[in-house]
Amino acid sequence: MRKIVLSLLAVLFVLTASAQKYPGLADTPPMGWNSWNIYACDITEQLVREVADAMVDRGLKEAGYEYVVIDDCWHGERDSLGFITDDQENFPSGIKALADYVHSLGLKFGIYSDAGWTTCGGRPGSRGYEYQDALKYAEWGVDYLKYDWCATDNVNAKGAYDTMLRALAKAGRPILFSMCEWGDNKPWLWAKDIGHMWRTTGDIYDDFYGEDDHGTWSSWGILNILDMQDGLREYAGPGHWNDPDMMEVGNHGLSVNESRAHFAMWCMIASPLIAGTDIQNASEETIEILTNEEAIAINQDLLGIQGFKHSKTDSLEVWYKPLAEGDWAVCFLNRDSISKEINYDWKATVVKDDFAKRNANFANTTYEIRDVWKHKNLGKTKRALKTTVPGHDVLMLHLSNIEK
Ligand code: GLA
Repeated sequence: MRKIVLSLLAVLFVLTASAQKYPGLADTPPMGWNSWNIYACDITEQLVREVADAMVDRGLKEAGYEYVVIDDCWHGERDSLGFITDDQENFPSGIKALADYVHSLGLKFGIYSDAGWTTCGGRPGSRGYEYQDALKYAEWGVDYLKYDWCATDNVNAKGAYDTMLRALAKAGRPILFSMCEWGDNKPWLWAKDIGHMWRTTGDIYDDFYGEDDHGTWSSWGILNILDMQDGLREYAGPGHWNDPDMMEVGNHGLSVNESRAHFAMWCMIASPLIAGTDIQNASEETIEILTNEEAIAINQDLLGIQGFKHSKTDSLEVWYKPLAEGDWAVCFLNRDSISKEINYDWKATVVKDDFAKRNANFANTTYEIRDVWKHKNLGKTKRALKTTVPGHDVLMLHLSNIEK
């Protein structure tokens, strides 16, 4: 009798236990490429293959970019059994063949769907088909799912994302789960155990500061999106990241300085580094920004602590990010279009990070200063730092604690 009761309890536990997201897939912010910013719905298998090749040839793979993600508009209709098919015109060899190709280059493959009836681009959504879709993705060899929020009517967000998580868990393949409900339902408060990352805002577009009004919704410039991250740092950490959207580095609306500032800030706030750039045709400067290994090391630091704004004087902000081994990243962000003189007295600066429980007291501790963009040492924090930051640009520093 005791055995029967125990077995029943075990069955009940399995049936009701909450699904687990796959561990170990996002211990540091995920890195990759996504098709949307640059190709929107004009995406084909040929383009994706070319991008994957370019990620290898132009050094992105070596720099740590791992996922090649097709965003909206790869879908065909559902078949008579309800399984999703691929768009035969733009993906004639099929998604599975494309995933195989991406894998053959040593990269991982990502795809996109939506918790509603349709995707934002009007293709079939996953609502009601979650388990079938997850099975298909696993069969195709998908490693990453971006899950959007269009056409969801009155669906409960936590329930919808939890359902897809359960479907992915059941399908049995490790798939990174990237939630994209634009921060509407404050996912940072409830999604830690559901998604590996969650969008915190509406869509980004390639303007340093601005709003692109589409009527019922708006896209936002780089600084606008940065400002919207205020107050969210305590919710991010290894395995669960705030996602301020895919990067616009090197895209038409941004100058080189602005692209550098954009990338630097996404590194400072431990954002996933998902490039939305035309990798094949990007300029050398753009590739240099995207593959700057010192900046990437700040983003990928193993503590996984999101940086914070420490101070602001006029349009010059100073951001700090605690790093492993007692180090710090510091970034001077010039929001103005004209250059700014800096005369920064470290010894008069106290950095008290209550969230990370870390302090930097420059009067007692000396750090070695490294300019992350110039790849040059700038001396120590014993003396004030005097330099200039160009308009819409950054000075990004790695401070090494030399007394450790
Ligand atoms: C939404 C998302 C974007 C992109 C498009 C695709 O707007 O926020 O990132 O995926 O849908 O239609």
